[in-house]
Amino acid sequence: MAKRTVEDLELNGKKVLIRVDFNVPIKDGEITNDNRIIAALPTINYVIEHGGKAILFSHLGRVKTEEDKEGKSLQPVAARLSELLDKPVSFVPQTRGAELEKAISEMKDGDVLVVENTRFEDIDGKKESKNDPELGKYWASLGDVYVNDAFGTAHRAHASNVGIASNLPSAAGYLMEKEIKFIGGAVDEPKRPFVAILGGAKVSDKIGVIENLIEKADKILIGGGMTYTFYKAQGKNIGKSICEPDKVDLAKELLEKAAGKIILPVDTVCAPDFDNDAPTEIHENNIPDNLEGLDIGPKTIELFTKELQGAKTVVWNGPMGVFELPTFAKGTIGVCEAIANLKDATTIIGGGDSAAAAIQLGFADKFTHISTGGGASLEYLEGKKLPGVESISDK
Ligand code: 3PG
Repeated sequence: MAKRTVEDLELNGKKVLIRVDFNVPIKDGEITNDNRIIAALPTINYVIEHGGKAILFSHLGRVKTEEDKEGKSLQPVAARLSELLDKPVSFVPQTRGAELEKAISEMKDGDVLVVENTRFEDIDGKKESKNDPELGKYWASLGDVYVNDAFGTAHRAHASNVGIASNLPSAAGYLMEKEIKFIGGAVDEPKRPFVAILGGAKVSDKIGVIENLIEKADKILIGGGMTYTFYKAQGKNIGKSICEPDKVDLAKELLEKAAGKIILPVDTVCAPDFDNDAPTEIHENNIPDNLEGLDIGPKTIELFTKELQGAKTVVWNGPMGVFELPTFAKGTIGVCEAIANLKDATTIIGGGDSAAAAIQLGFADKFTHISTGGGASLEYLEGKKLPGVESISDK
């Protein structure tokens, strides 16, 4: 059933609790990537333009002890949000208590306030992460309605998403709605042909996705480090390449189950070391003992480009090689280009490293949708129900 959205809520004069995912990378107090903050702006703007008081909740990093709090305050995020919204944003360095309640009671319609990192509640008994019912109830008592726009956190059942949603009328924000539409739509009702491209280092991270997509996709193109576990399953020599020996049998089963549907690389860029300046060699199929595979080769780029032609839905998760090193980025760039050149296709990047790769390599605006979720988009692609999505009220 369709979820209620922010546009279904009465917002004027209301205290609107908004769960966003502002879990952004921060180095020496500086935000190094603000995509997740930018992605939340449409919902925040809609709420304030419609007379709501926007009270924002987010986690940042993982916090287990007092020491873990160091560098994990949302204060710099509130400052960045203020720049992006071009208006003052107040920040309360508390997750509960008199100061927070007073600041909320003094808000005017259209004001924006950021509450301190919800995971600061984890120090004393994991109240946020274990969805402590009292905490969810308390946070809910601070507002009139609840909007969940934190897709990146939707695979977690925490007090600030599931907990608040069970105590207030709730709705999905625009980002949440978009993620559900594109990722959910691709998996459940893809326009065909539907091609999935899966990469990354480990088969074990992608088992659930492969198993789900074997049923749903027309083709699955495999690249990245997990290629070599599949090669091993085919009895090929993989040299020093990364391999998960305990997943070789599973890789064999998947290849049998999806005969003709799983397409593996036909050549590999190899080097003796994980080093941008290392001498490289291209090998087809077998890799010599002294080398490791670090990227898909030119013939594979050609093959994958051909397999992608005519695709109407493409989901990509996981880089094709060690794209952080320019010498081994060509495969990932080649796949980005092939996807970018498709006509009339819905193209989706399922978060995490592949999203970082596409953005870093300059392809951010060439895809229909780049998910803001890492773990959440993976679990969604696995066909799992996400507690953060499930807890939002239905229309
Ligand atoms: C993410 O970055 O994937 C989300 O913000 C969730 O973070 P978590 O894995 O720490 O729950």
